[in-house]
Amino acid sequence: MSGLQATPTIDHAYEEWVSLPDGRRGLIRLMRPSDRVLLVNGFERMSPQSRYRRFFSAKPRLSDREISYLTELDHHDHVAVVLVAVDDRGEPLGPGAGLGVARFIRLRDTPHVAEAAIVILDEVQGSGFGRLLFQRLAQAASERQVLRFRTEVLAQNNAMKALLQRTAHDLGSTLRHHYEGPVFVSEFALGPPIEPTPDAGELDEQSEDSQSHLYDLLRFAAMRFPAATRLMVETLEWLDVLDEDDPEIREAARLMGFEDDD
Ligand SMILES: CC(C)(COP(=O)(O)OP(=O)(O)OC[C@H]1O[C@@H](n2cnc3c(N)ncnc32)[C@H](O)[C@@H]1OP(=O)(O)O)[C@@H](O)C(=O)NCCC(=O)NCCS
Repeated sequence: MSGLQATPTIDHAYEEWVSLPDGRRGLIRLMRPSDRVLLVNGFERMSPQSRYRRFFSAKPRLSDREISYLTELDHHDHVAVVLVAVDDRGEPLGPGAGLGVARFIRLRDTPHVAEAAIVILDEVQGSGFGRLLFQRLAQAASERQVLRFRTEVLAQNNAMKALLQRTAHDLGSTLRHHYEGPVFVSEFALGPPIEPTPDAGELDEQSEDSQSHLYDLLRFAAMRFPAATRLMVETLEWLDVLDEDDPEIREAARLMGFEDDD
């Protein structure tokens, strides 16, 4: 596997067929509640190192509550894409068919940011599936108006740090990071939010939200293209489109370094 692939819409109908290194067929799709058995079996097959890197502890087992939390998702605030070994009809090849999960959970206080995590089982690591699943997760996040991924990984986890750098690069973004003790904390921008096609009944509500989408776009642009966005904001202010006292605008201004001039 190599290179980027076309990006489909990541919804309940999404299914992407792939070839596994051992010649079996694989399917990437959203997590389903019926994937409970696959998740538990996959967890049991994780190597101690992968388990430690994913959960920051030896974590011997998952509780029933944790399994429900990890499989019964709303696919808006909590989304997971999975890689499953399947037969020709797309059905899992037994309880050991789960090979990878990438998930994000939206932060309650800053809903345009989500915590992202991933695990690819050792037997298929190094085959490009981490990159592909994380890319699809980023796509799913953008479609749900998430603007940034935040991740926490152990500082010595070079594979995940490489995957984060690669994903940020694939998206034309920059990985910003700092260390909190042994933890590498990083964030990167996902791209402008992707608007779903509105139903007729949603149109009024969406036009009321247009200012907030403009702010989201400005915040994103401010991170990626600070100089150009600065010029754009100055123009919008001059045209009296932006409210300088709005906290969203103040955040975009901070990202562009306007504060430094005050
Ligand atoms: C991190 C992880 C998801 C990577 O998945 P993967 O399928 O092996 O990764 P890929 O094959 O798609 O490779 C993605 C990038 O990482 C790099 N990479 C993968 N394994 C690496 C390693 N051991 N050391 C350095 N770089 C590595 C690849 O070279 C590739 O970068 P490139 O495209 O610039 O060449 C996988 O190793 C894993 O599940 N680890 C255990 C769980 C974990 O650490 N999760 C992170 C905490 S949330």
